[in-house]
Amino acid sequence: MNAENIRFASRFDGISGSAIREIFKLLAVPGMISFAGGNPSVDALPDAQCAEIARELLLDKGKILLQYGATEGYAPLRESLVPYLKDRFSFTCRADEVLPVTGSTQAMDLLCKALIDPGDKVVVENPTFLGNMQAIRLYQAQLLPVDSDEDGIKVDELEEVFKSEHPKMLYIIPTFQNPTGRTLSLERRKKIAQLAAQYGVVVAEDDPYRDLRYAGQELPSIKSFDAEGWVAFMGSFSKVISPGLRVGFLAANAALLRKCVIGKQSSDVHTANLNQAIVDAYLRRGLLMPHVERICQSYAQQMNTMLGLLSKCGGVARYTRPQGGLFIFAELQEGMDAAKLLMNCVDKGVAYVPGTHFYAGGGHENTFRLNFSMSTIEQIERGMALLNEVFSANS
Ligand SMILES: Cc1ncc(COP(=O)(O)O)c(C=O)c1O
Repeated sequence: MNAENIRFASRFDGISGSAIREIFKLLAVPGMISFAGGNPSVDALPDAQCAEIARELLLDKGKILLQYGATEGYAPLRESLVPYLKDRFSFTCRADEVLPVTGSTQAMDLLCKALIDPGDKVVVENPTFLGNMQAIRLYQAQLLPVDSDEDGIKVDELEEVFKSEHPKMLYIIPTFQNPTGRTLSLERRKKIAQLAAQYGVVVAEDDPYRDLRYAGQELPSIKSFDAEGWVAFMGSFSKVISPGLRVGFLAANAALLRKCVIGKQSSDVHTANLNQAIVDAYLRRGLLMPHVERICQSYAQQMNTMLGLLSKCGGVARYTRPQGGLFIFAELQEGMDAAKLLMNCVDKGVAYVPGTHFYAGGGHENTFRLNFSMSTIEQIERGMALLNEVFSANS
């Protein structure tokens, strides 16, 4: 029989793959200035340090690290995550309440595996991170988008949706959100923890950008206000050490974490031991925060340069002014279409991601997301000049 007749699972119905990954294919042109990705700068990847650590680890514990490990994770990393979580995310947990995972992407997948039956409802911010919307869709959940403003998701609307729709989960990025760069206010963090317990909704709190702060005050995590165990916290070392190592973590109550461990057994058995051990060494040796401070200095300059140029960019009606993270979200004047104009921009040599992809229900064609971490100051100046040309000509 012709292989065109393969009967694919219905979970893929209507799912076409990440629009961002499709845009990346357009960008493989030499000289293209990309404001489209979300990668750390190559200058921020600590290759020499990791090489040294990996060599020491392999010489010292090679027979352990090259063997199969526990699905629950590399025990020293679980232990070093405990003080890290207390210090950086202001919540306490035991080592057996935190699970190292293969990028926080896997944490989202495992939470869905543990919680979502086809047809279940999941609340997401409107707009939100495309990658995790796709993960939720693959478990055949119904997405319920709730709008956000400068202070993050609107909690009054959220409560209405909790009350009337009985969702199983809320997926939320509280700090320097992807794609908007916005941060959820302290009051709303407290309120969300309270609503989760009141209405019995699991909160999947995804916080990979928190350490990339260039201004303003740190805020405690939603999980720090969670007395009853409704908040599952996902973290990642992708943006602050290396995305290629694929090390993240999930902190959740024991029963939920156990389901995720069982789910992980059949996903990848365990996260790569060597990569977990490198991250563990990074934490134990106190290398993380000095590294983060270094990279934040240049990211802050890059972001401020882009913000300054956006204020003078033709066709741009408004944009967010984040205090950290990797993204700025902007709106063109009403009637302009950022998805259509992307091709004109790519022809000129600059790219971004149209904002429509981040909205569960589409629309919002006049919005777009800009990333600044992967471009030098000169590239930002040149790229913004090209955007100004295209947008001014079409406004
Ligand atoms: C909000 C958010 N969550 C999760 C991820 C994925 O992180 P990881 O590399 O740890 O899988 C990203 C990556 O861009 C992200 O923006």
